Amino acid sequence: MKVTVGVTGGIAAYKSAELVRDLQKHALDVHVVMTQAAQHFIQPLTFAALTGHTVTTGLWAEGSDQGDAASAIEHIDAAQTTDALVIAPATADILAKMAHGIADDFLTTMVLATTAPVIVAPAMNVNMWNHPATQANLETLANRNVRIVAPDSGYLACGMIGAGRLAENNAIVEAVLSVLHHRIDLAGETVLITAGGTREALDPVRFLGNRSSGKMGYAMAEAAQRRGARVILVSAPTALRAPANVEVIPVVTTEQMRDAVLSRLDQATIVIKAAAVADYRPRAQADQKLRRSGPLTLELEPTEDILAAVVKARRPGMLIIGFAAETQDVLAHGRDKLLRKGADAIVLNDVSREGVGFDSDRNAVTFLTRDRAIELPELTKRELADQILDEILTLRRPRHLLSESDTDLSLSIGEQA
Ligand code: CTP
Repeated sequence: MKVTVGVTGGIAAYKSAELVRDLQKHALDVHVVMTQAAQHFIQPLTFAALTGHTVTTGLWAEGSDQGDAASAIEHIDAAQTTDALVIAPATADILAKMAHGIADDFLTTMVLATTAPVIVAPAMNVNMWNHPATQANLETLANRNVRIVAPDSGYLACGMIGAGRLAENNAIVEAVLSVLHHRIDLAGETVLITAGGTREALDPVRFLGNRSSGKMGYAMAEAAQRRGARVILVSAPTALRAPANVEVIPVVTTEQMRDAVLSRLDQATIVIKAAAVADYRPRAQADQKLRRSGPLTLELEPTEDILAAVVKARRPGMLIIGFAAETQDVLAHGRDKLLRKGADAIVLNDVSREGVGFDSDRNAVTFLTRDRAIELPELTKRELADQILDEILTLRRPRHLLSESDTDLSLSIGEQA
């Protein structure tokens, strides 16, 4: 696949060389377009050597080894043949031009002429970044589906400290990969997703909760929406921003989550239960704040099993996916849960592993169905969300259409069902 990197004139332009290398590691054919200003910071030759392609530096023949006639339409050709356009670093100037549709050089012309996804990774002085004009331009671009990889905060070349430093390359690469794998393969589906950790009140100020951040469920919601599904997200408290174009139903307790899920179930074609649901709640909730006075014994009662209720009420064709976070005998517990709960698949999480799972941005899971156990690689939760959706969609395919590799990892657990 072909990716065009647009380099504009900021100090961070030198980082684009490394970005080109990182994109190439994903077997992408990288082409580079530079603005006039960018060439004050880094030579086109660097990019030509890295990519093996001519670097486009102007709207007319310069920087191109083709004649005038060819170069006159080159920006259209480049715009039409690229699978993604990523502008990194993107200056305040290019963001303003893009927001207003100005096309006065090769890069800005290409931005208008391309129908491929466009990603910008801004880098600038913190005051320029915070300026209402820049923020308004970003909002305009975001509303036009330009993907923005927000800058990091830190020490800036201008000597100031704040937001404006070009995002790390891996964040930019991830955005590129995610737009390239953009598929509209969930159109017509309504995906009901639960996320976050439910809370059960002890008294007016305290609750029993768990460490779920909600990140995995939110990533699933975002990915499903991007892939064309209508998404209903039933969310226990999280610190996350609601994904765009997703219907969010906020809940706190397990009972509220169950009611919200069951009331929307008739609309759902796929149910994904990513929430970490409290298994117990205090049998009685104190009306007033509990005071400290010696040892305290809490009496707990089990909550209702939402997944079980969903399975009981399932309609033909509905897919039901559970999640399980385990700390030991992960696969055995996962299999047991799959069969006991009657879900179509369980996304199995080994939360004893360092650096993945709870609160982390990364995760590694096994997608467990009645006859397969597919180990998905350690990825960011956003990348993983797409892989999990891919696996869910294979459940829609008739078994005889599954390729051999799909069944390679088969586990003989089907017989136990
Ligand atoms: N789940 C649910 N309702 C509950 C508990 C769990 O819907 N009251 C769902 C979770 O959202 C998850 C799946 O069931 O998708 C597995 O959750 P988990 O807590 O691992 O399962 P439990 O039934 O609690 O099993 P165990 O206590 O044996 O681990």
